[in-house]
Amino acid sequence: MKKKLIAGNWKMNGSLAANERLLRAILAELGQPACQVAVAVPSAYLAQCQALLAGSVIDLAAQDVSAQEGGAFTGEISAVMLKDFAVRYAIVGHSERRQYHGESDETVALKAQRALSSGITPIVCVGETLAEREAGRTDEVVKRQLAAVIHANGHCVSEIVVAYEPVWAIGTGKTASPEQAQQVHAVLRAQLKAASSSADRIKLLYGGSMNATNAASLLAQPDIDGGLIGGAALKAPDFLTIIATAA
Ligand code: 13P
Repeated sequence: MKKKLIAGNWKMNGSLAANERLLRAILAELGQPACQVAVAVPSAYLAQCQALLAGSVIDLAAQDVSAQEGGAFTGEISAVMLKDFAVRYAIVGHSERRQYHGESDETVALKAQRALSSGITPIVCVGETLAEREAGRTDEVVKRQLAAVIHANGHCVSEIVVAYEPVWAIGTGKTASPEQAQQVHAVLRAQLKAASSSADRIKLLYGGSMNATNAASLLAQPDIDGGLIGGAALKAPDFLTIIATAA
């Protein structure tokens, strides 16, 4: 059976002191988890977190990666640079990047491609807004977002991780019900199966107000292979509880 993946997305939170406190508190209690664990930290802290996590079971992740290979792209960070810090995963297409930075499906697909070609696993985020859900367009939206990545990455698509993050559930305290989440995950799984004979091994994470209380029922769904966790990943006890739930 494939191991679940619990990934924290710290977003634009933290400081040298706070990161050290948080990671030391997590590592002190973590032991040998039954699932895989990663933290996506702000790029300014990659070197610090790489050092703090050295020799541990927690993998380092980036929150974004450039669609460009390198050169005159002020402010961008390339996949090759991330690889220098032993980054294993890079989130691409988070709804906050799509919404506030105008990232298109095509840009997200290119970012996934750049990550894969540097040996970094992209965590591809898809998800509908509240208006799209209410208009009955959820399946169409997530399938369109994922199709761009499948199209650009061909057979490599079996190497990605997908995170379903309904935009209306992010940071709002409103979680998709386990049934709602499973229903979309099943749609995504079917789409991946049509594209790759190895689709069963692709991890499908749920993200959006996942916490220590609701994690168990979400992670019990057949097509939910882990979580991408924002707010609750900033609190060591909550993150540890979610990890313990993902056995
Ligand atoms: P919250 O867990 O804070 O809702 O954030 C989810 C998310 O966006 C993870 O990438």
